Amino acid sequence: MPETATSEFWRDIKPITRVFKPDALAEVYLANAPTEDERYYVPFSETVSSRPLWISPAQNRWCDILMAKGAGLVNRHYHPHEVFAYTISGKWGYLEHDWTATAGDFVYETPGEAHTLVAYEHKDPMKVFFIVTGPLIWLDENGNSAGHFDVHDYIGLCRAHYDKVGLGAEAVRKLFR
Ligand SMILES: [Fe+2]
Repeated sequence: MPETATSEFWRDIKPITRVFKPDALAEVYLANAPTEDERYYVPFSETVSSRPLWISPAQNRWCDILMAKGAGLVNRHYHPHEVFAYTISGKWGYLEHDWTATAGDFVYETPGEAHTLVAYEHKDPMKVFFIVTGPLIWLDENGNSAGHFDVHDYIGLCRAHYDKVGLGAEAVRKLFR
């Protein structure tokens, strides 16, 4: 049960007793997802890092907070699958589109899009909640494939970083669903 109700109209409603089906996994609750504690942010490029929130190896999918403290770049890549983004703070965009996203802005990118992510100088860090389905296909200057990055690469990066900063690789595994 969450915090006990005081005057809320729903205070006498009983919680459901059979919450999980036998084979269902527990929910994930993380306080303060866009935390200021930089240990949680895994370097993703030289200027952009990612706090993992939820990772699905089976679906090749993950949710994260993408963060840049100043000008940032995630070099050009192609998505064979969809991407959702919600901007928490800062300013960012893709070189390929004519919009610039700031706090509160939502973005959906359709499968089959290539782009170059840039973060602008801003009084607040860029923090964006992303739902990504892998892989990302890195592209060279001519738009040709130059490597890939999928959930397994992401897990590897996260584990190595969490181990290094003392959060422990196990903290990454706890995000698997
Ligand atoms: Fe992307």
